[in-house]
Amino acid sequence: MKRDLVTVLDLKDELKDIIDLAIKMKAENKRGEDVASFKGKALALIFEKPSLRTRVSFEVGFNQLGGYALYLSPSEIQVGKRESVHDVAKVLSRFADVIMYRAFDHQNVLELARHAGVPVINGLDDIEHPCQAVADFMTMREVKGVLMGRTLAWVGDGNNVLHSLLLGAAILGMNVKAACPGGYRPRSDILDMALSIARGSGSRIEVMDDPIEAVTDADVVYADTFISMGDEAQKEERLRAFTGYQVNMGLFSRARSDAIFMHCLPAHRGEEVTDEVMDSPRSVVFQEAENRMHAQKAIMVRLAGFR
Ligand code: CP
Ligand code: NVA
Repeated sequence: MKRDLVTVLDLKDELKDIIDLAIKMKAENKRGEDVASFKGKALALIFEKPSLRTRVSFEVGFNQLGGYALYLSPSEIQVGKRESVHDVAKVLSRFADVIMYRAFDHQNVLELARHAGVPVINGLDDIEHPCQAVADFMTMREVKGVLMGRTLAWVGDGNNVLHSLLLGAAILGMNVKAACPGGYRPRSDILDMALSIARGSGSRIEVMDDPIEAVTDADVVYADTFISMGDEAQKEERLRAFTGYQVNMGLFSRARSDAIFMHCLPAHRGEEVTDEVMDSPRSVVFQEAENRMHAQKAIMVRLAGFR
């Protein structure tokens, strides 16, 4: 049975192992001892939206392990427009050994995965960003050690990144306190799923309005853009709704004194986060960005069995 990563739930039973493998593969990479286990393999990268980290980390990472990565820009395949999702899946599966897909619509990622004969990895859609979450938990593990019982405070939009973090935190036994204004809370189906997993793992998941309440005594403070890709038309109303949700030093100082700041990037300095927090010694945003590459290598090894 081929395996996909459409949602963090697809890794439910092995999230911890994948994080361990990512940390091991990062160490191998730093020692110059990458194992060329992707030799002769091809990775197709389909993008419907812009990217810096996702494109570069997948391309460079796959090449480091001996494979060939092919970037397909938003104007090329036009999944579902120039050609049906089904046909794209069938054709690409004849050329590529793995497909990464950054999409507007989660349903298209599910459908591509359903019809492809090779693993499909979600590179962000309107509901989830699973690769980001795996890299983020890897980063938290590196900096904070044991994750179980730690508290992540989310400040801002109840978006794709929060959804993947909620599911991952519930699996790993981490607590989440998410401060989101009314109308911008996480989806109820994802929240219910996270709450149900949390009952088994012992994690506490709470959604609230007040950023101060969320951040107080947290181990990790996480921000993301107020205006995700696809939400640009709502810019003015969103900027109004998120007034008071900026992570600045005043808010960050409510967290534990050794708390770290995280952001999936790209950041909008001066909007959801200030320069002072982004550039503070407790900001791990660039380690987090680098870890995308190591985490995705581990994900591909596990899904495709290339090692
Ligand atoms: N964090 C992230 O996915 O960045 P890109 O949009 O640049 O790929
Ligand atoms: N929530 C953001 C994440 C970007 C990596 C977006 O979807 O645009």
